[in-house]
Amino acid sequence: MKSQTKEPLIIPVTGKAIVSTPAADVKAMIPTPAVSKSEKALITYRKVEEKDYENILSLQQENFRSGVTEEDKQNGFLSAKFTKDQFMAMNEDLGIIVAIKGKILVGYLCGASFDYCKQFPLLKETIDDISTHQRKINDTPMTSENTFFYGPVCIAKEERGQGILEGLFYALKKVAINHVKHYNNCAFFMSPDNVRSSNAHQKRLGVRNIGSFFSQTRNKEFYLFARELEVPKLIANPAVQMTGFGSRLFSGKIQLWSLDEVRSNNVYRP
Ligand SMILES: CC(C)(COP(=O)(O)OP(=O)(O)OC[C@H]1O[C@@H](n2cnc3c(N)ncnc32)[C@H](O)[C@@H]1OP(=O)(O)O)[C@@H](O)C(=O)NCCC(=O)NCCS
Repeated sequence: MKSQTKEPLIIPVTGKAIVSTPAADVKAMIPTPAVSKSEKALITYRKVEEKDYENILSLQQENFRSGVTEEDKQNGFLSAKFTKDQFMAMNEDLGIIVAIKGKILVGYLCGASFDYCKQFPLLKETIDDISTHQRKINDTPMTSENTFFYGPVCIAKEERGQGILEGLFYALKKVAINHVKHYNNCAFFMSPDNVRSSNAHQKRLGVRNIGSFFSQTRNKEFYLFARELEVPKLIANPAVQMTGFGSRLFSGKIQLWSLDEVRSNNVYRP
């Protein structure tokens, strides 16, 4: 069994700071002792903390569809926006995982119950489509009892293409499986013009496009994406295949995982 990390790893790095403080000030504040390349590249995953919300809101603002140029939209964009209170409630409801590089928040992924998400029009339309059409995974209808709503997910522009999506997903998966509902699946909407996100989710996470629906509130079509948590299908990278899962329940304490750890279903940090 691997030794447990009690304190968050603190590895100063250079790079874009996702904080509201001007970038120049942030750079000046960050000490830069010699660190190895592998330490610089180390990205860890943990549940969100109070101090993270400001950085999540900044990342959300940078990537919300109305602020992203047409050219940049090819690299993904967010279709729904949330306030700090809403993010906090989502975290209470199921969980938010953040990806940390050094001390910098470089990505986040949220998950919440259908009941919580129904208050947001586009999310409600997604959930209504699932129940109206009795959308299934492996011949089992998805319900609010066995499926959670995945997203939003966002990774800082400079940090994309490194597997952070996988790290965020596998950390959230741990939380979801160990939630009192013991979720089996996740589902979410996908804008058809978000090609990068669509490719990344299908190729990296084995998420499947299982239908589409017309959103009255957005006046456009959205895809319905879903995945079982335990049995990944269509995984392009065999290194991310999962097996089994420990039986201990998630304690809700701050946890910190490396990508290798979140890929391994057998690692548990109380
Ligand atoms: C969507 C997002 C989370 C994906 O994470 P990522 O780190 O960028 O994913 P990856 O770079 O590993 O992409 C994986 C696949 O996407 C595809 N991809 C990469 N760049 C692409 C581009 N410019 N256009 C289309 N597809 C692209 C490739 O198929 C790639 O797989 P491959 O390298 O094996 O060919 C991230 O891009 C992001 O946060 N974007 C902004 C916000 C967003 O769109 N959120 C999702 C809303 S549903």
